[in-house]
Amino acid sequence: MRKAFIAGNWKMNTDASGGAALAKGIAEATDGIAGESVDVAFFPPFVYLQSVVSAVSSSSIGIGGQDIYFEEKGAFTGEISAAMLKDVGCVYALCGHSERRHVIGESDELVNKKVLASISGGLMPILCVGELIEERKAEKTEEVVERQVRAGLKDVSAEKMAAVTVAYEPVWAIGTGLTATPDQAQEVHAFIRNLLADMYDAKLAEEVRIQYGGSAKADNAAELMGQKDIDGLLVGGASLKVEDFAAIIKAAV
Ligand code: PGA
Repeated sequence: MRKAFIAGNWKMNTDASGGAALAKGIAEATDGIAGESVDVAFFPPFVYLQSVVSAVSSSSIGIGGQDIYFEEKGAFTGEISAAMLKDVGCVYALCGHSERRHVIGESDELVNKKVLASISGGLMPILCVGELIEERKAEKTEEVVERQVRAGLKDVSAEKMAAVTVAYEPVWAIGTGLTATPDQAQEVHAFIRNLLADMYDAKLAEEVRIQYGGSAKADNAAELMGQKDIDGLLVGGASLKVEDFAAIIKAAV
């Protein structure tokens, strides 16, 4: 049985006091649920990681970096290593979010290096995959998702897969208010699970959690979570308000 996993990606939002208040508010609103019946994580901007980690220190909410660099240390201006994320109390790292792939230009190869560096650095990566609207219209969704999953998990052993979550986020649904229908999402989630069975084995594929992301909110969370292969949600906009995100977490219980 896969435990539900709800994650909030704050992107380039909040400020020092607002971020700490948001984190504290959600921890309070989900006391007794977060970490018990559902795993919960936040991904604040790097500069607020430390204050958010301390704001939720008495809860079981896990904190992660929105990005990570694959080198251990050295002359990589502006980058953050796995060891640095761990050092401030992170347990997760987002790898290959669509905004990093399509706004910043990250390649599948770079995303794979980030997944590997997260695992070897003791963090749990969330590998994000998903097609653009043109790719969906051209019926290339499965082709694109398969390429991103295979490339993103290259050299990730079956044993190391225990640390990995996959997030299916159709790019056309992110921040647009256009959620994939539960059927559309389920179809791709099932495709990813079959792909994992092919890459590893059926037992492992049954254990990997696959989150959906893309305009997930309080009023569609339960229906999305009701799909057989949807194990959690990666939430952007709706993770920035205590009541909205707390309602999403409760819908996953
Ligand atoms: P959204 O973002 O919920 O605002 O669509 C999801 C994501 O990018 O992870």
